[in-house]
Amino acid sequence: MTSYKITVEPLGREIDCRDDQSILDACLRNGVWLPHSCTHGTCATCKAEVLDGDVDHGESSSFALMDFERDEGKLLPCCARPLSDVTIEADIDVDEDFRMHPVQDYTATVVSLEDIAKETKRLVIELDREMEFNAGQYLKFQIPGTGADRTYSIANPPTQRRLLEFHIRRTVGGVASDGWIFRTLAVGDPVAVSGPYGRFVLRVGDDRPAVLVAGGTGLAPIKSMIRHGLENDAYSGHLTLYQGARTQEWLYDVEEFQRLEKEHPNRFSYRPCLSEEIAEGFGRGLVTEVIEAENETLHGHAGYICGPPPMVDAALKTLMGKRLFPRDIYREDFFNEADKAAGGVRSPLIKR
Ligand SMILES: Cc1cc2nc3c(=O)[nH]c(=O)nc-3n(C[C@H](O)[C@H](O)[C@H](O)COP(=O)(O)OP(=O)(O)OC[C@H]3O[C@@H](n4cnc5c(N)ncnc54)[C@H](O)[C@@H]3O)c2cc1C
Ligand code: FES
Repeated sequence: MTSYKITVEPLGREIDCRDDQSILDACLRNGVWLPHSCTHGTCATCKAEVLDGDVDHGESSSFALMDFERDEGKLLPCCARPLSDVTIEADIDVDEDFRMHPVQDYTATVVSLEDIAKETKRLVIELDREMEFNAGQYLKFQIPGTGADRTYSIANPPTQRRLLEFHIRRTVGGVASDGWIFRTLAVGDPVAVSGPYGRFVLRVGDDRPAVLVAGGTGLAPIKSMIRHGLENDAYSGHLTLYQGARTQEWLYDVEEFQRLEKEHPNRFSYRPCLSEEIAEGFGRGLVTEVIEAENETLHGHAGYICGPPPMVDAALKTLMGKRLFPRDIYREDFFNEADKAAGGVRSPLIKR
């Protein structure tokens, strides 16, 4: 194993990176922040420029990093590994509400694993030590015996630093969900994780009302944000959650959000929506249709959207139609391997 020097401009920071390690990984473990989202070569958020040196582009999707971009000296640091000392230039835009917590490896133990909705499990793990993170960030899980990892968002607030909650949806034929978490994973099993990753975080210095849109297990990071905002008084603006599902059997944590709405009537509103079932107390239609019908304008709000990429794109368009600017909207796309193969680069309408 060889180690090379990586210089990150315009910061002028130098770090060491092994030849089997991604440049992003080396940076995040050494306290150098680079913008990133999926960490799997799909979203293009981390795209940067090689000023000097050679890299192996690894698993970068050819949609996220096109051939002509490689020829022009671009790279995706989340996939690229150094073949020599390398200097890169990145578009580093650290948000002042964001706290940089260097990525570390942890050994965890499964504390509980339960069915909470159709094809959906709640997984609780206990880390071997405390981890600091921002509300909305995620961890990487090593899938035993495969050498592969998958990313899952933390659903509890950052004041809870050892006992971490995750919501996992089963993907038929999926290596991590179908082949491991839904099949063999059990209470007491050890789990290797690393983190925290991502920049889909609650902007705690903001005082604007915020509309949060969650599809499926896209609820996980949003639940962390809402609980942090309300229970820890971390957010002073009003929070409105639109949670979408097909029918009630796909929806979860409804009672918990109803309780939070009762406890914080002036600070939190909850709108669960069903697209294929009519039921009292639930919005009727896709979340985008309910938002459309219930709001003349959302001008002056911040927007947070998380879930499957098509839902995120649709919600983004809806919020923009209600007069939110792209700079006011934060998104997390739950890209998977199929999205990567099909070119799941996020909409050019918005970068973060
Ligand atoms: C930032 C982030 C956070 C996330 N957080 C969560 C979360 O909190 N909860 C959650 O449930 N999910 C989350 N996800 C999604 C999660 O990381 C996994 O992608 C998801 O669980 C599927 O993983 P898997 O191993 O089960 O399926 P995979 O093995 O990745 O397969 C997914 C699908 O792709 C197909 N496929 C596999 N390889 C290829 C290929 N080469 N070409 C074409 N098709 C292929 C498979 O057949 C399957 O249909 C998140 C994703 C991101 C990017
Ligand atoms: S973070 Fe590098 S492509 Fe998504």
